[in-house]
Amino acid sequence: MTRQERRVASPRVVNIGDLRRVAERRLPRVVFDYVDGGAQGEITLRENTRAFEEVTFRPRNAVAVRGCDLRTKVLGTELSMPMLLAPIGFSRMLYPQGEITAARAAGKADIGFTLTTISGSSLEEVAKATQGPRWYQLYLVGGRECAEAALERAQKAGFTVLAMTIDTGTFGMRERDVRNEASVLMGTNQFAKIRFLPHLLAHAEWLAGFLRDGGMLELPNVIVPGRGPMPLSETQASLARSVVTWDDLKWLRKAWRGPIVVKGVLIGDDARRALDEGAEGVVVSNHGGRQLDGVAASLRALPEIVKAVGGRAEILMDGGIRRGSDIAKAICLGARAVLIGRAYAYGLGAAGEAGVARAIEILRADLMRTLALLGCESVADLNRSYVDVPATWATLSS
Ligand SMILES: Cc1cc2nc3c(=O)[nH]c(=O)nc-3n(C[C@H](O)[C@H](O)[C@H](O)COP(=O)(O)O)c2cc1C
Repeated sequence: MTRQERRVASPRVVNIGDLRRVAERRLPRVVFDYVDGGAQGEITLRENTRAFEEVTFRPRNAVAVRGCDLRTKVLGTELSMPMLLAPIGFSRMLYPQGEITAARAAGKADIGFTLTTISGSSLEEVAKATQGPRWYQLYLVGGRECAEAALERAQKAGFTVLAMTIDTGTFGMRERDVRNEASVLMGTNQFAKIRFLPHLLAHAEWLAGFLRDGGMLELPNVIVPGRGPMPLSETQASLARSVVTWDDLKWLRKAWRGPIVVKGVLIGDDARRALDEGAEGVVVSNHGGRQLDGVAASLRALPEIVKAVGGRAEILMDGGIRRGSDIAKAICLGARAVLIGRAYAYGLGAAGEAGVARAIEILRADLMRTLALLGCESVADLNRSYVDVPATWATLSS
């Protein structure tokens, strides 16, 4: 067992909450808060996990379950379980070669990996790290011409599904990042960074890895015409300016040959609009509570979207998944599969590939156990009859 594997082994790490604590110890506060935090009062961030607690199971007991089949097909791709890694920007802040490291763990587990536009590694390098399904998540930083070049490269590198994120009309107000001066750390003024030194030196292992990795200074998939890769320091401002609209989806439909999913859908109207404009799927998501604070938990929004879509497209969801039983609940309420964000990001920050692998393993074992205890042999058989939801949850699909 390697040192990293030992760090996240049982009994020290039994669940995702334990993994979070290990990440909190290894990472400097400014980096940990970047992952862990949400927008403003973090109401939606808390709601995302709390909503799962409101849903209760209705097991079929006295049933001999001979083995549980977790395999799922999502937009034409087979996954070993109904889960993909969500796009996480700036992953190289968490661990050297963060995106490549996480993609490798996803590939070995035969689950999907979604690469963010805000990646410190190239599409081609990430593609080499995993034989598993790979999706690309698009932001329009750098404009359409720049995006078209990235899409061409993504298709060549075997990325099959495009996720278009629609909930970043401007940048969410992440109060922890402001207090910690995260933008100074990611900026170009090296002199200003001196104030972080004592704090970073207290996390020597992280610091050594970050410096060895080159400090992630530019975005190799955002090649601005006539200028080259976009510097990391420009990302936040550029993101705030680059609203993605339904018009962009029309253009994307022509630029991308495979399926498109729209990520960040919270109301039925947006789900219908996404399908009308040519998307094959939607991701019910509030960006992990990092954008508009005060929106509903993703799980709470899911039934409205299921009703609006009416079986015409595949529905995924993310937000607040910390246990395998959460995955089961989301599927019972109509999701085909889920994306996990922080659950794996904590693993990456705690112990790199070993940490991501541990996060996946925890969720897989937990989902398997949940199915067995529900008396259900396959995730394909999960449905509304296995859960109860509070009477106050309106517009539920059956
Ligand atoms: C640190 C961090 C960075 C993220 N970066 C992106 C991104 O670049 N693009 C995107 O579409 N979503 C991004 N998200 C949102 C995730 O893809 C996902 O929707 C969210 O994390 C799900 O909630 P969970 O963390 O509770 O699982 C990010 C989330 C976190 C925590």
